[in-house]
Amino acid sequence: MVTAGPTHEPIDPVRYIANRSSGKQGYAIAGALAALGARVTLVSGPTHLPTPKDVDRVDVEQAVDMLAAVEKALPADIAICVAAVADWHVAGQNGQKIKKEASGAPPSLRFAENPDILATLSQHPTQRPALVVGFAAETEHVLDHATRKRQRKGCDWIIANDVSHQTGVMGGDDNLVTLISADGAEQWAKADKHAVARQLATRIADWFDHRRKD
Ligand code: C5P
Repeated sequence: MVTAGPTHEPIDPVRYIANRSSGKQGYAIAGALAALGARVTLVSGPTHLPTPKDVDRVDVEQAVDMLAAVEKALPADIAICVAAVADWHVAGQNGQKIKKEASGAPPSLRFAENPDILATLSQHPTQRPALVVGFAAETEHVLDHATRKRQRKGCDWIIANDVSHQTGVMGGDDNLVTLISADGAEQWAKADKHAVARQLATRIADWFDHRRKD
C-alpha cells in the first residue's frame, strides 16, 4: 500500500487548504513495486498523474478519507506513506460559500488536528504491516529531524528528502534522499524520482528476501 499526493481540506465548497505535493514520487514508487510483481493499492489525494501500470488506485480528498481508505486496504505487507497529508483541517462546517461581502473583515479559520496515517499504521495494534516506511520532507537539519521523526512515529524506515528551495526537489523530477533505519543513515545519489523509486522497491524486495531466510 502506498499513499501519495496532497490532501485537500475544505474551507467551504469552493476553497481548500493543502500541502504542496505533485504526487510524482509516490506514484513512481507504486509503479516500481508493481513492476516487481507486488499487488499495489495506491491511496491518492488529488493529483494530475495517470495511474501507474498494474496499480489499484483509490482516490480521496481529505486526510480522514485517506485514513479510512488505508484502513480498508489492510492487511498489507508493506505500507509506504509518501502523501503530504495536511496536518490540520478546518473545524466546523461551512456548507455554503463564505461570502466576501458578508462580514467586511476577512474570516478567521479555526483548525483541528488531522489523523496521522503513518503513526496509526506504525502503531496499529492488530494489522501493522511488516514494513512501514515514511517520508520526511525537511528544509533544515534534515537528518536530525528525520531521525527523530522515525522514532516518534514508530515506522521502520524514513526516507528523508531535502526540499529546501535550492535543491529543486519540490515538484521537480529529481530527488536527493537519505534512507534512515535502525541501522543508521545512508545517503543515495541524486537521481530521477523513478530511479529513486526503483532503488527503494529493490531495497524492499531484498528486505523481504532476507526476512524469509531468517
Ligand atoms: O510529520 P510529517 O508530516 O513531516 O511526517 C511525514 C510522514 O508522515 C510522511 O510519510 C507522511 O506521509 C506521513 N504523514 C501521515 N499522516 C499525517 C502526516 C504525515 O501519514 N497526518
